[in-house]
Amino acid sequence: MGSGERTPVERVALVGFMASGKTTVGRTLARLLEWSFRDFDDAIEDREGASISEIFRDRGEEHFRDVEAAVGRRLLQRREVVLATGGGWGADPARLEGLPPGTLSVWLQVSPEEAVRRIRSDGGSRPLLETEDPVGRAREILAGRKAAYRRASLWLDSEAATPDELARRILETVRERNDPRSVPDAEPV
Ligand code: S3P
Repeated sequence: MGSGERTPVERVALVGFMASGKTTVGRTLARLLEWSFRDFDDAIEDREGASISEIFRDRGEEHFRDVEAAVGRRLLQRREVVLATGGGWGADPARLEGLPPGTLSVWLQVSPEEAVRRIRSDGGSRPLLETEDPVGRAREILAGRKAAYRRASLWLDSEAATPDELARRILETVRERNDPRSVPDAEPV
């Protein structure tokens, strides 16, 4: 258990693969907590004045990753915030290991097949999946990222519950962690 586990939760970082529901769940959770919400991709687009697809196409993935890292460092200083990270942000194991105290990390799980299905039906574009075989590519990417995502404190299957239910489940965890009566590892008296 990391040091961030014992301090009250003042921020939630949602991690997971593309289309795992980070933005939808994050918005609902922020509303329930009466905290603010920020999506990494939106912050990147605001900073660059360009869409994610344009950034990948015109400035390259390496540039995108640099901006993503800078945006992540800045947003993780906020308090009372729910953050929807980009799928690639949490793919570096150091990211979840190095979260500031008071951060609850949540991995929203989704299968590659469902992720591609959701992306197709939303009409959203994901540069990394613009290939002839998006499901195959998604499988490869996810396989390489799972070990990093696993470092999150809470894992939730996004296919087994609605975004509302997922948000409420995270809310319960935040409330439990912030309840002064629940002291982790306390000796029973
Ligand atoms: C990416 C995920 C996307 C976006 C970019 C790269 C990734 O965000 O940052 O297309 O590497 O998994 P979402 O996870 O919000 O789809």
